[in-house]
Amino acid sequence: MMIAAEKMNAQCGRCASTRRSAPRNASKVLAIAEAERVNTFVRAKPGVPVGTPVVPPQDLPSRPRRNRRSDTFRKSIRETWVGPEHFILPIFVHDEGDKNTPIPSMPGYERKYYGKGVTDFVSEARSYGVNQVVIFPKTPDHLKTPTAEEAFNPNGLSQRTIRLLKDTFPDLEVYTDVALDPYNSDGHDGIVRDDGVIMNDETVEYLCRQAVSQAEAGADVVSPSDMMDGRIGAIREALDSAGHTHVSIMSYCAKYSSAYYGPFRDALASAPKAGAAHRKIPGNKNTYQMDPANYREALRELEMDEAEGADIVMVKPGLPYLDVVRQLRDNTALPVAVYHVSGEYAMLKAAAEKGWLNEQQVALETLMCFRRAGADLILTYYGLQASKWLAGEK
Ligand code: PBG
Repeated sequence: MMIAAEKMNAQCGRCASTRRSAPRNASKVLAIAEAERVNTFVRAKPGVPVGTPVVPPQDLPSRPRRNRRSDTFRKSIRETWVGPEHFILPIFVHDEGDKNTPIPSMPGYERKYYGKGVTDFVSEARSYGVNQVVIFPKTPDHLKTPTAEEAFNPNGLSQRTIRLLKDTFPDLEVYTDVALDPYNSDGHDGIVRDDGVIMNDETVEYLCRQAVSQAEAGADVVSPSDMMDGRIGAIREALDSAGHTHVSIMSYCAKYSSAYYGPFRDALASAPKAGAAHRKIPGNKNTYQMDPANYREALRELEMDEAEGADIVMVKPGLPYLDVVRQLRDNTALPVAVYHVSGEYAMLKAAAEKGWLNEQQVALETLMCFRRAGADLILTYYGLQASKWLAGEK
């Protein structure tokens, strides 16, 4: 080895002008062969397939593959990790009987029934280290109105679920959704005027009442997902004046008008409804959720939400919007969350069911990629399953 090292040093000398010169490489090969012949302490070389070309080593100043050589070493220098402490588990809750009900477009994910359905689910999640949940109630049609007052019914399903969870698990972090769509007979996040305009400031008034009622029920974090202008500041003020200065706001800051929300709207039967002759109901949410073509606009939303007092800012959907996650990460000191939404879950499930993708590997890779892109928190329907996988279970 000494002989080879000395010869190579002498020949290389880190001199750019002689790099990659053919004669020098040729003599390097000879030098190595000679060293191996005379040195009986060299370990036997592994065989190679017949036909492998014999070439001199490339003269590379560095070889990144050296740092990928073993699982031990890769783990020791890994830049990012993901675990149950990063997950916020969404809970769809219903109060129509005591059975958990399947959601056809979200295989493996159920609407839990109010009561043991919900607490068993959370209890299992906690046993795997997931201690943060976000609640989405399925409101029966007869409680939906065009002005969505059920959103701030102190005894509404959302409020009851918050109370149940905080009574059962006092240290559980309970997040809520603040938006009118699950309670609005028109299926929009805000109140729809007869000409189809989603009214902003009137909606914000009701969002404030909704947030306060959730705080009153014991919510730790209220999460406005409605995308009305000025709602973060208004909600902050409403919470503070009601004495809830300790309740946080996670803003759906860069929430895009996305077709990836389809399965979620199935889960809650909350898609925009068709209008009638005298009332125009827009078939999409394009006048309040962001245009998927826009990147800079996310900064504008970020600046407003920060100034208005958001504690956490979120990007939604997830995988197609990793550039936006990185943008927020690089432009705020606040924690950044990402929502791995229902359509992303459904796509993965569908491919896995067909045997076209390895579900476990792709799901864990996806969650890791959110973290690499800069997300601190991940809202994901894989929260429990991924935590089981990470614990070494099937
Ligand atoms: C309600 C809300 C939606 C989602 C979270 N909160 C639907 C929507 O904006 O239409 C979507 C979550 C998902 O798709 O997983 N405002």
